[in-house]
Amino acid sequence: MSKIKAAITGINAFLPDYRLTNDELSTMVDTSDEWIMQRIGIKERRIMKDPDKATAYMGTKAVKGLLEKTNTRPEEIELLITATITPDMIFPTTSNLIAYKAGLKNAWTYDMLAACSGFLFALQTGAAFIEGGYKKIIIVGADKMSAITDYSDRTTCPLFGDAATAVLLEPTSEDVGVMDHIFHTDGSGGKHLYLKAGGSLHPASHETVEKREHFVYQEGQAVFKFAVSRMADVSVEIMKKHGISPDELTYLVPHQANMRIIEAVARRMGLIKEKVMINIQKYGNTTAATIPLCLWEWEDKLRKGDKLVLSAFGGGFTWGAVYIKWAYDHVS
Ligand code: UT7
Repeated sequence: MSKIKAAITGINAFLPDYRLTNDELSTMVDTSDEWIMQRIGIKERRIMKDPDKATAYMGTKAVKGLLEKTNTRPEEIELLITATITPDMIFPTTSNLIAYKAGLKNAWTYDMLAACSGFLFALQTGAAFIEGGYKKIIIVGADKMSAITDYSDRTTCPLFGDAATAVLLEPTSEDVGVMDHIFHTDGSGGKHLYLKAGGSLHPASHETVEKREHFVYQEGQAVFKFAVSRMADVSVEIMKKHGISPDELTYLVPHQANMRIIEAVARRMGLIKEKVMINIQKYGNTTAATIPLCLWEWEDKLRKGDKLVLSAFGGGFTWGAVYIKWAYDHVS
């Protein structure tokens, strides 16, 4: 009997309506559409404007839509994991809130914090539970990055957007699903990209607010260099490990942080641009949501057996690649 693997059997996303364009950003900080397009490749990003709605709201929308789309009853879900760095609050977890609002009465839940690699780490964790006997798991990748973005800092504010995604994981004995992963973390990179305050080391105070320490701090160039080399290394490594040639690979599904990073990784993998999922121009960097947001947009084009390498790099540093064989043909 063949080994049970986890397959993504459905995917859904929620995007807030508001589009923050480069032209609007140019009225807020000293920047331009030309600079942002050249250096980053983002045209606009979605923003959750309503201050009463955050990651759990967006995640719940994504989960409810997923249940409907896959004809799944909320009671059937056994586990929900949410990858996010922008939880509604430190506790209870955003997963708790989503499960409650979406009626997942039989699910236990927890959040995973691994920045831009969060979705991949959560996907692989969910896959391990499926291999261990679970039948239905939802993985959410969701971030309200606008909540931790400083719109007076031109070096970071063009980068980020808000979005939520949800995938359903189920067991399969066919030769599809989550095949393998290679993951890394390196805490020495933490100082280049982090949120300075709001944790137990520097709890919120007048001083942390005055010093704007509740917003993303990033040393862009340092992160850029690591992102290109580490994401490319791990993506090439997983292709080689499974003997996948650039021709055989159906798509690279890269984390969407910067168009130049994506292009450099694709070049190292020997891929033509038609084999790379890119939607950064429309949504920016939505942290834990970027990779599933691509899969959701490409769902109609994907076919059972397609070979995909999902690849991410982010704060921590954290990085890795997951090799999956797509499990279904979508009928919209
Ligand atoms: O997802 C998590 C992982 N994060 C990433 O992967 C992000 C990695 N880093 C990057 O994508 C890039 O480093 C940035 C997009 C953040 C910055 O691009 P860069 O090409 O590394 O620019 P830079 O920081 O070297 O800045 C070049 C110049 C500077 O001016 P001077 O010092 O040369 O006069 C900046 O002040 O560009 C200036 N600059 C801007 N100019 C117009 C920085 N931001 C802007 C801006 N508009 N928004």
